[in-house]
Amino acid sequence: MDSEFSIEGRFLGFVIKDGYKLKGLRLGTAEGEQYIKLSKELRALLRWDLTPGDWFAVAGEKTLDRKTGEIKLKAYRITPLAPKQTETVKPAKTKASILVCQKSDCMKRGGRAVCQAIEESLCDRGLENQVTIKGTGCMKNCKAGPNIVMPNKTRYCQIDAQDIPALMEKHFPREKIKTLV
Ligand code: FES
Repeated sequence: MDSEFSIEGRFLGFVIKDGYKLKGLRLGTAEGEQYIKLSKELRALLRWDLTPGDWFAVAGEKTLDRKTGEIKLKAYRITPLAPKQTETVKPAKTKASILVCQKSDCMKRGGRAVCQAIEESLCDRGLENQVTIKGTGCMKNCKAGPNIVMPNKTRYCQIDAQDIPALMEKHFPREKIKTLV
């Protein structure tokens, strides 16, 4: 029984018979590569300058070959998809993290105040939703605590809460904040 189909995918290439006869096209879809025959009207209309990799919506007729059990697709309409529709959904950006040792030596040496100063500085810059403070276990540098690691992996030791504003300005310069987030 015939039925309609409509699929979206990337144009992979034309299928040519005898070296010159346009028969169909190959479309890369979520279910893999599909061969789609082109209707005579479409073959006459189709511009040959479809660029492989571009996205299209293809609609047409689906037929089941009773003998082979194969499903055949024949296209009647090909519509280019706007670039914004073709963009794959980007995974949510992972938050940048500032690591702060939460173990006793670092805490005794002022780690808590450092943590608080980082938090205040993030709020001050409007980065509280983009950058998180992560407490860590001992960084094995206890005598030089408090220890912190910035998102770019720069490690600081013997840090004082008073140093935080300058440090934050270095890592999250206000004028660049827009590009950081
Ligand atoms: S307690 Fe902070 S590095 Fe060991």
